[in-house]
Amino acid sequence: MRIVDLIQKKKQGEELTWDEINYIVQGYTKGEIPDYQISAFLMAVYFKGMSKEETANLTLAFVNSGDVVDLSAIDGIKVDKHSTGGVGDKISLIVIPLVASVGVPVAKMSGRGLGHTGGTIDKLESIEGFKTTLDRNEFISNVNTYKMAIVGQSANLTPADKKIYALRDVTATVDSIPLIASSVMSKKIASGADAIVLDVKVGSGAFMKSLDEARELAETMVAIGKSLNRKTIAVITNMSQPLGHEVGNANEVKEAIDVLSNKGSADETAVALTVASYMAVLGGAFADYDSAYSALKQKITSGQALNNLKELIKIQGGNPDIVDNPDMLPQAEYHIEVKSPNEGYVQSINAENIGISAMLLGAGRKTKEDSIDFSAGITMLKKVGDQVNKDDTLCVLHTNLQEHDAAERVALKAFAINESKPQTVIEETVLAVIS
Ligand code: URA
Repeated sequence: MRIVDLIQKKKQGEELTWDEINYIVQGYTKGEIPDYQISAFLMAVYFKGMSKEETANLTLAFVNSGDVVDLSAIDGIKVDKHSTGGVGDKISLIVIPLVASVGVPVAKMSGRGLGHTGGTIDKLESIEGFKTTLDRNEFISNVNTYKMAIVGQSANLTPADKKIYALRDVTATVDSIPLIASSVMSKKIASGADAIVLDVKVGSGAFMKSLDEARELAETMVAIGKSLNRKTIAVITNMSQPLGHEVGNANEVKEAIDVLSNKGSADETAVALTVASYMAVLGGAFADYDSAYSALKQKITSGQALNNLKELIKIQGGNPDIVDNPDMLPQAEYHIEVKSPNEGYVQSINAENIGISAMLLGAGRKTKEDSIDFSAGITMLKKVGDQVNKDDTLCVLHTNLQEHDAAERVALKAFAINESKPQTVIEETVLAVIS
């Protein structure tokens, strides 16, 4: 086989076989095929797409390139969830203790934040002492005993995807549906779950800017999951503005505590309950969505889900007292109010700019090597559709950095304020379900 012939084949829109796709992925991972040829191949995929079968084969080739986690020692159907990434997305922090509270085992592997999006592992590390690495036996034993455990992804999970993702980032080939779908699904499948709920974000803070694109991505990922024998459901949720009111690390943990205390914002609570309900159904605890939803809601109102969060923190070495006293979480020194320059209505909030501003305040990393400040972040006081007066506070920036002008400018730029009421406020948080 010659890589140049396979690039040519894809350029002409023909379908590649399993052997051909595997040859490309293995050759690149081992360093036998150079970046420039894989770049050309990725661009051909970008323009010509891939069939469902090719996309499933690409996913499997990524899975086979590294470790595959064996969770067979855990009893029951292991469910996982994945978000395609957003700003203020703290859903994993909420659903792990919530789903575990109905007896469904959640063996979660999560990532760190990069650029304008946050990562669950960073958020949990804002809790002093919380261990995000557990050895295999402890991880399995915690899931069997407590129905929940969370760790950072192992370094050798889907190395082919890591290498190709880095190349996509610098060759303008990230926003390709088969490439995103195979990248996401390979990590979920290599992590060993039996069932997967995908939270596909749509809007200004997400990769997918329109509902049609989000639907296509969701359908592609569900088809991959099913073809590789994983029960898979995707929910498409609104990311046209940051989710909830907090963006950062420690302050997102606080907001997750609020949701589990039945004091959460409507959008955050709706997405969390929807994702958790589908996880509980796929995990076999309930026959249908409605019964799962009402049981999970009851776990919140009864305080059992919140107790489970305390237990998760305790078994992973953190101080569970932060749940009753969230002010024990890291606090920033400076709190800067970003004021409205005029009166009117909030037409839109560019979630990506809010994410970038949070990163500039210290909450995120520009490069993988950067360290982060757990106390830095943004509290959103105004959301789309809200009426504002001149000088009303739109959001509050939290930071330990004395120099925060750039973050302030980017946060202000995120808000569009007009005299008239916005015509198209997307009220719903859950826009579609694909199964
Ligand atoms: N997240 C991933 O893991 N991969 C992509 O390609 C895009 C988002």
